[in-house]
Amino acid sequence: MREALARAHANIALVKYWGKRDEERILPMNGSISMTVDPFYVTTAVTFEDGLPEDRLVLNGLDAAAVDQRRVTTFLDRIRALARVDARAVIRSENHVPTGAGLASSSAAYAALAMAATRALGLNLSPTDLSKLARQGSGSASRSVYGGFVEWLKGNREDGEDSYAVPLAPPDYWDIRMVMAIVDSGPKSVSSRDGMRSVVETSPFYAGWQATVESDLAAVRNAILRRDFAVLGQVAEANAFKMHATTMGAVPPFTYWSGTTIEVIRRVQQMRGEGVPAYVTIDAGPHVVVLCEPQHASWVEASLAVVPGVKEVVQAGPGPDAREVDAW
Ligand code: DP6
Repeated sequence: MREALARAHANIALVKYWGKRDEERILPMNGSISMTVDPFYVTTAVTFEDGLPEDRLVLNGLDAAAVDQRRVTTFLDRIRALARVDARAVIRSENHVPTGAGLASSSAAYAALAMAATRALGLNLSPTDLSKLARQGSGSASRSVYGGFVEWLKGNREDGEDSYAVPLAPPDYWDIRMVMAIVDSGPKSVSSRDGMRSVVETSPFYAGWQATVESDLAAVRNAILRRDFAVLGQVAEANAFKMHATTMGAVPPFTYWSGTTIEVIRRVQQMRGEGVPAYVTIDAGPHVVVLCEPQHASWVEASLAVVPGVKEVVQAGPGPDAREVDAW
């Protein structure tokens, strides 16, 4: 039986991946930097079996929706082509994200799937090749191959061979925390995939995003190397606000923020006034991730938990590399 079990942790970007130059290969307009996070991970078992009529994706014990099944089949087709096999697979995936919010779960999901499926077929890809492969499932998954602090190099080539993640610093290099404020969300309006397409095509503010992202990358890279928390927080927060500003210039305009998102941002600004260095970053949804140092994390957690509209608060630290595991 060709089977493997792998685990990958989610990551949260400090400089965001926002916009594709090639949708098919998932090649980004800009580089990005993230931290892989500890309590958020996905464990995936892939079993290739001859004679199966089609792939079957089971998420947390339930058959997945047709659209997710198709996306996974397209992804596995790349791996079948590499390994020169035809067999279909059963994919069982458990999402250990301690909330229903699905925060950053596609990054962990495609990194775990890339590793489990390649190992099941006896392909022992280098981390670089694994990152390129995971990227083609979901861009942010390219970064979840590594633990700690990670940069995804955008690359320039049309074939995507130079677009992959590299580790900047391992998880034990710097203990900073991400306190996630999960807010009440209405129905999910715009996926990150559709949102970034819309801003690239229609937002006049996308040019402003592109004009400053390289300097944000340099500043965040240096802040990590120097363990300079204030610079890291300031640049990451500004970068997230610029990303979200692009959505307001799109046609039609949209925002990922809810009223509670803004209340949490205000609370974090107040914290700084109270002498606690804390900064926000926000992905393609209403939840707010608050960066802080370990000595402030419990206090930040408690302060966010009482903001009206906040459903749940979870603390994360730097997490490990994607890897094969023996048990769920
Ligand atoms: C805002 O990696 O989910 O979280 O490549 O279309 O699957 P696809 O998008 P995805 O986008 C993540 C966008 C982001 C920023 C980031 O993680 O860098």
